[in-house]
Amino acid sequence: MKILIGTRNPGKLREYEALLAGLNLTFLSLRDVDAGDDIPEPYETFAENAELKAREYAKRTGMVTLADDSGLVVDALGGRPGVYSARYAPGTDADRYTKLLGELTGVPADQRTARFVCAAALASADGTILDLQIGTVEGQIALAPGAGSNGFGFDPVFIPNGYTVTLNALTMDEKNAIDHRGNALRQLIPTLRRIA
Ligand code: IMP
Repeated sequence: MKILIGTRNPGKLREYEALLAGLNLTFLSLRDVDAGDDIPEPYETFAENAELKAREYAKRTGMVTLADDSGLVVDALGGRPGVYSARYAPGTDADRYTKLLGELTGVPADQRTARFVCAAALASADGTILDLQIGTVEGQIALAPGAGSNGFGFDPVFIPNGYTVTLNALTMDEKNAIDHRGNALRQLIPTLRRIA
């Protein structure tokens, strides 16, 4: 079965392919189909944004569609940047994590708790939501960017619980095994098996 992944990000597509290998699915992204303009993420919750994207891309393309919305929730900032993680600051990923470290100046290690959250929604070809799963990974914001060259976004400043290094020091497979997107997608596998 062909399945549309609601992303233009080749890195995310590779993560989906790795996580859902063996399900007899052929993965297409928004780069492979004509799905029109990108669907915005207008809501205050990851779940509502993920459902909107899955439903709308499915209706536009007539394909079973999986879409996610994710971000970083920092307790000392009252949950920010949350659903606004991608829009937290203009510029590069480094601009955004540097701003985050600046906002947390003086906040001690035990109060730097945070989590990545991912909501993943699956829609049938007519746009009906079949499943929605939330995955998280708990950790803390480092005092300075960690050494490492993998990953993206806020990975260089996020230390998962149980580790002493930031996420950008892990391989893609190591990160997938513990991260929010991996946790959300693994929970979707029973539904994907049922419809594949
Ligand atoms: P979106 O889910 O494509 O809207 O992306 C949300 C934003 O959250 C990204 O642009 C990153 O800033 C951040 N983010 C989400 N997942 C991760 C991750 O696995 N590592 C680092 N940053 C992430």
